[in-house]
Amino acid sequence: MATSDDLEVSAYLEIAEGRASEAENEPQSVNEGIIVIDFGSQYSHLIARRIRDLKVYSEVFTASSTWETVRHINPKGVILSGGPASVYDPGAPRIPDWVFERDLPVLGICYGMQALVHQLGGEVIPGQAQEYGSAVLHQDGGEASLFTELPPTFQVWMSHGDRIATLPPGFSSLAYTENSPVAALGNGKGIFGLQFHPEVNHTPLGQSILENFLMRACDCRGSWTPGHFVSDSIKRIQEQVGDGRVICALSGGVDSAVTAMLLHKAIGDQLTCIFVNNGLLRLEEPERVQDTFKRNMGLNLVYADASERFLTELAGVIDPEQKRKVIGEEFIRVFEEAASGLGQTDFLAQGTLYPDVIESETPENRASARIKTHHNVGGLPENMKLKLVEPLRYLFKDEVRQVGLELGLPEEMVYRQPFPGPGLAIRIIGEVTLERCDMLRACDWIVIDEIKAAGLYQQIWQSFAVLTDNRTVGVMGDYRTYGYVCAIRAVSSEDAMTADWVRLPYEVLARMSNRIVNEVPGVTRVVYDITSKPPGTIEWE
Ligand code: XMP
Repeated sequence: MATSDDLEVSAYLEIAEGRASEAENEPQSVNEGIIVIDFGSQYSHLIARRIRDLKVYSEVFTASSTWETVRHINPKGVILSGGPASVYDPGAPRIPDWVFERDLPVLGICYGMQALVHQLGGEVIPGQAQEYGSAVLHQDGGEASLFTELPPTFQVWMSHGDRIATLPPGFSSLAYTENSPVAALGNGKGIFGLQFHPEVNHTPLGQSILENFLMRACDCRGSWTPGHFVSDSIKRIQEQVGDGRVICALSGGVDSAVTAMLLHKAIGDQLTCIFVNNGLLRLEEPERVQDTFKRNMGLNLVYADASERFLTELAGVIDPEQKRKVIGEEFIRVFEEAASGLGQTDFLAQGTLYPDVIESETPENRASARIKTHHNVGGLPENMKLKLVEPLRYLFKDEVRQVGLELGLPEEMVYRQPFPGPGLAIRIIGEVTLERCDMLRACDWIVIDEIKAAGLYQQIWQSFAVLTDNRTVGVMGDYRTYGYVCAIRAVSSEDAMTADWVRLPYEVLARMSNRIVNEVPGVTRVVYDITSKPPGTIEWE
């Protein structure tokens, strides 16, 4: 899913991607890779992720992929994902022929195992009892390299209807559960099937099973590291860009920061970054970004201070969606003006991540209801005709962070909490004015300062202040006050799709509240938001 801190960059994708040829987005070459064939499981990308955690490169491909489209990752093995189909459904996805022709080790999971059985001459039938949730697996002998060093019985996570009635020739059963007489199978020649899901946390020993498959069946070495990624990417960027010129919109978020640093290492002065100050950034953010990139890292950085322009455009706007639209359009104008002063430009670098790619390639996975626009720019102006450079296109967020550290970016930037593209505008309820921005900046600074002092910053998904448009009566000294209510929000989340409010220690909340009412003129009351998502959202607007 698209996390927020670089959406102002990745939103360009919608228009720019149409212009980029497949060749420009070719994945990196690696010395050993595992192919995950996606049969439509919600866990396919999780499998790839688990494999990478074992230091082996992995990528998800569709069932219609040809050998030519997968060979560049130097496949050492194939994992077939689960999926919603039954092998007897008309048009049910099939394992591509090249999987067997290439003699690669194969691990079929759930539907992947049923497809193996079906295509290799066994029989799959509808199960009498569907099996969802936890089950106890019993090993029952056979070629069990997959289960090396695992106990004879252990807990697994099942989610299937069909079951195996007849094994294909040459296969034997490796394990059973109460409802699945064949819960694992193998042919002694590197082809395995599992009826359960080793990739999910509810199969506690699942990672050991995947590790056995990689290291024993596929003979992987496990050498994929951020360092390899960096040197590979540098080579690829140099090949793609040649002596062309590249621009990159820097937001201060980790994705665009890592993208810019990789490009800087690869092509030096051929890269120019544009950093737009929309006046809606947090305290000291514009200075921090310029310090890090221009002064410390030596990047070509164009700083476009458009704060006044944005605030002028936002005057009188109170509707959240309208705020996003105004900010998005103004961003494009400012960015285009800054870029047009740079002369000939050939490429646009973006911090698109793997979850964005997965999401955009399987539209059926997208949440259907639009809750918020989540974009702050409408798209790149048509006349710019730029080709895309997306060096992070095959990485997950935490891998990007590892690469960031490898590239020498400061920890505080690498582990920065997500910050929305429209910035403070969607945390100021009602009209956005300079005075209210400054008020919120001061509150926000205190919240983050106290969260950091309590050692909680990296454990929390997002923590911030919101300036409401409510005013309440208070008393300070002998005077009546009448000022704004500031709300504090701190949430834990895996991916921003769902979130829970963080049970912050009372002392931390007390310090924040005390400091805010004392240090921020105009704010006289502080509340803590204890709403989860759903039903709330993370941001207030
Ligand atoms: P919500 O408020 O929908 O937010 O729970 C989920 C995540 O998205 C971020 N967010 C945005 N990011 N432009 C962005 O770049 C936006 O318009 C936007 N709205 C919300 C939010 O900070 C959270 O991480």
